[in-house]
Amino acid sequence: MAKGKKKVRIGMIGYKMMGKAHSHAYRDIPFYFDTEVVPVLQAISGRDEQGVRRAAEKMGWASVEMDWHHLVERDDIDVIDIVSPNNTHADIAIAAAKAGKHIICEKPLALSVEQAQHMLDAVNKAGVVHMVCHNYRFAPAVQYAKQLIQQGKLGRIYHVRATFLQDWLMDPGYPLVWRLRKDVSGSGTLGDLGSHIIDLARFLVGEFSEVAGMMETFIKERPLGDMDIHLQGKVESSEKGEVTVDDAASFLARFENGALGVFEVSRFSRGNRAGNRFEINGEKGSVRWDMENMNNLHVYLEEDDPGLKGFRTVNCTEVEHPYGRVYWPAGHIIGYEHTFINLLAEMMRGISKGISPNPNFEDGVRNQMVLEAVERSVCTGKWVNISDVSYR
Ligand SMILES: NC(=O)c1ccc[n+]([C@@H]2O[C@H](COP(=O)([O-])OP(=O)(O)OC[C@H]3O[C@@H](n4cnc5c(N)ncnc54)[C@H](O)[C@@H]3O)[C@@H](O)[C@H]2O)c1
Repeated sequence: MAKGKKKVRIGMIGYKMMGKAHSHAYRDIPFYFDTEVVPVLQAISGRDEQGVRRAAEKMGWASVEMDWHHLVERDDIDVIDIVSPNNTHADIAIAAAKAGKHIICEKPLALSVEQAQHMLDAVNKAGVVHMVCHNYRFAPAVQYAKQLIQQGKLGRIYHVRATFLQDWLMDPGYPLVWRLRKDVSGSGTLGDLGSHIIDLARFLVGEFSEVAGMMETFIKERPLGDMDIHLQGKVESSEKGEVTVDDAASFLARFENGALGVFEVSRFSRGNRAGNRFEINGEKGSVRWDMENMNNLHVYLEEDDPGLKGFRTVNCTEVEHPYGRVYWPAGHIIGYEHTFINLLAEMMRGISKGISPNPNFEDGVRNQMVLEAVERSVCTGKWVNISDVSYR
């Protein structure tokens, strides 16, 4: 399949939920895409030797490395893929850039704007290709929404309304996993889920100009423990620890182009599992998308005949749709994992052309600025201008 193609050798750090998503995507890229360079699963790294070896065998990695510092220095690695918790991203990315490796990093890019900016400086200095894994941009229906907006089908954009709602944290007995510790995650539901809908809004609507937010931690202490890739918690001790991040956050936003935004993220929205949804209203039309039904884009166009006006459901699997020729005949839907295949295929194209496709570390910095502005607004009780957040 990949005969005669240039190979890029991937070294991946972390092997659980996102490790699985990325490993699967690399294996599928040469199957579905005709990229000039193809990924090779060269080495995988983590802290627990048995766990890493098991993951390497199951997911098809050629070798294992117990210390990411060694992985980053290896001559037989071209790309470092960071799928470990947020507090590890900066150190790994900066070391990888210094070693001349291209980098794909999971979101949110960093723990702070300052850290994200250092990462951007490092990749710029090294001249390596970089991306941040905001995979939802790569759902064909989201890409099609972008096309409609770019073609002016919706006209001037007035509103964006976006949520990312989950409910896995509602049991007070759920353990204090790394996502609930500020030193490891940076921020809680805001950074984890909010960074995704901020990315979607930046992609579809434009740059944020100011925000006003609120956040709440409903349950302040939890027993110590871990979670699996299905978000099932495992309590490991009766000892309790403090939750140092938000359980839920909401914020209002103004955009540079004059649009208004309303955003809400929560892990306490009973019945919502992955309620990643948006609606965008423009002068000539509107679009709606829901990740749990991700192949469909709901489109309203004011130009429709009077009797036919209404939201139509467009199943974005036609050959005319983004990525429509990559997978199956129309109506044969794709799923969550394909967002990663599409994103990492763009990374392969970026490497062959020597450019960093969006979303890249520059997008990661801008995303982090919005997250930090929301946090500042929560502390001060005031609107915060995004340009005031830049640490320089
Ligand atoms: N794009 C998405 O939709 C999405 C979804 C989930 C998670 N994420 C992001 O992916 C990253 C990983 O999340 P996850 O859900 O896969 O986490 P996870 O807890 O399932 O896996 C983390 C992995 O990192 C390894 N690890 C932990 N600390 C490490 C260290 N100090 N050095 C080396 N390896 C270490 C662990 O052994 C494990 O393999 C986070 O940044 C998270 O925000 C993104």
